[in-house]
Amino acid sequence: MYITTPIYYVNDTPHVGHAYTTVIADALARWHRLHGEPARLITGTDEHGLKVQRTAEAAGIAPATLADRTAPRFRAAWDKLGIGYDDFVRTTESRHRLVVEELLSTVYERGYVRLGKYDGRYCVGCEAYVDSDVCTDHRRPTEHVTEENYFFRLSALAGELADWFARCPDAVHPASRRNEALGLLRQGLEDFSISRTSIDWGIPLPWDPAHVAYVWFDALGSYLTAAGGQWPAHHIIGKDILRFHTIYWPAILFAAGLEPPRRITVHGFLLARGEKISKSGLRGLPLDDLVAEFGVDGLRYHLLRDNPVGPDGDFSYEGIVARYNADLANTLGNLVARVCALVVSKCAGVGPAPTPGSPLAEVAAAAYADANAAWDEVQPAEALAAVWRLVAATNSYLVAAEPWKHPAPERVLGDALEALRIIALLASPAIPASAAEIRHRLGLSPSTVDDLTWGGYPGGLPVTKGEPLFPRR
Ligand code: MSP
Repeated sequence: MYITTPIYYVNDTPHVGHAYTTVIADALARWHRLHGEPARLITGTDEHGLKVQRTAEAAGIAPATLADRTAPRFRAAWDKLGIGYDDFVRTTESRHRLVVEELLSTVYERGYVRLGKYDGRYCVGCEAYVDSDVCTDHRRPTEHVTEENYFFRLSALAGELADWFARCPDAVHPASRRNEALGLLRQGLEDFSISRTSIDWGIPLPWDPAHVAYVWFDALGSYLTAAGGQWPAHHIIGKDILRFHTIYWPAILFAAGLEPPRRITVHGFLLARGEKISKSGLRGLPLDDLVAEFGVDGLRYHLLRDNPVGPDGDFSYEGIVARYNADLANTLGNLVARVCALVVSKCAGVGPAPTPGSPLAEVAAAAYADANAAWDEVQPAEALAAVWRLVAATNSYLVAAEPWKHPAPERVLGDALEALRIIALLASPAIPASAAEIRHRLGLSPSTVDDLTWGGYPGGLPVTKGEPLFPRR
């Protein structure tokens, strides 16, 4: 598995919107690793192009200085959010330049590049050639550009793209986003410009250094830079960059004689008060404040649980408080506290083993199967809902059995400990730090190789109480 996030522009600093994509990608990679499948996760920063150049100019600094300032802020944000990335690509690195030069040379030599004249409009916000006077995404006038450019012969690849969509019906998903991509294909594909002469903040074309590579050609190449020998990739992206990933990128790969992406998961926007969250719109919801208030796992859980992948979602302070209190503080947190306290008081702190025929065994198996099916479709919200069905069933099991009244509650508590062991595993992609803490309280060592079938809790381990895992907000 090779999973990627977009590489983020350094004209902006990390916000909840970027975090949404990155947390989905990280959780997906963790889900695979949970099954012993190695998963490589990469992210990075997109540092060239007109948008970055202009932001730097406005700040009175060189674009390289802006990039050097901002790239570490993305790294720091991802470190803070527990993102286990294996590589972080900056497009100004020389290893990346070499890859893009080779990609450019390959498509050039294979006859997919022609010289032409671009006479049309450009949206600097999108870094895209467009045909409207005003960009609907950025709500800003587009600019007129007349330049001699090299063009990528996208039109020559329409047939190959159509075959790929037909052959791989799951490659672009969810279905609504695949239909959007098919719509673009049906509209007809025009060659697009892959070079600029009017800017110099970019990678010069190997065969004509008076031109620099179009920033999107450069950026998409980062997925190859970081592949570490693994290809094809599973790209996680937002809907704003669907055209680049589902049409341009596979076509570039075909032109280079490489395999297209394995999968492209496209999610919608997170909105705050109806507006797309972006630098200007995010005031009041900085990542650091959210982490300080809800913990890393509180934020990760909310992003994954409340925003199904595909449609737009609302992000609000009220929303995160409600979800945090309901699922984490009141439900999972209480369950852990209750079970551990009972084992400490009733079993002298030694966790009993579960019973093979426990009614919870079936619920645990169903939770796992449902979560697995949901992760196959990259629907973390559904996967977590499945896991929380096991949390709820375990709570009900305790309420019905009333182990606190029982003189010998070993059976019931052993079952509850086993359910918690499985819950911690299944929830770990979303809430890795809390899952590790639950395991610790159950007396399991971090290195135990665990399986997801009922009966893995060995019994006889020291169970401990601790501070509330998720203090109420
Ligand atoms: N640099 C390009 C991507 C190149 S990938 C080869 C880019 N960068 S970006 O900084 O603008 O990031 C865009 C991505 O950030 C979106 O596709 C999405 O993944 C994420 N998001 C940014 N704001 C978002 C929301 N408000 N909501 C959801 N995702 C958002 O485009």
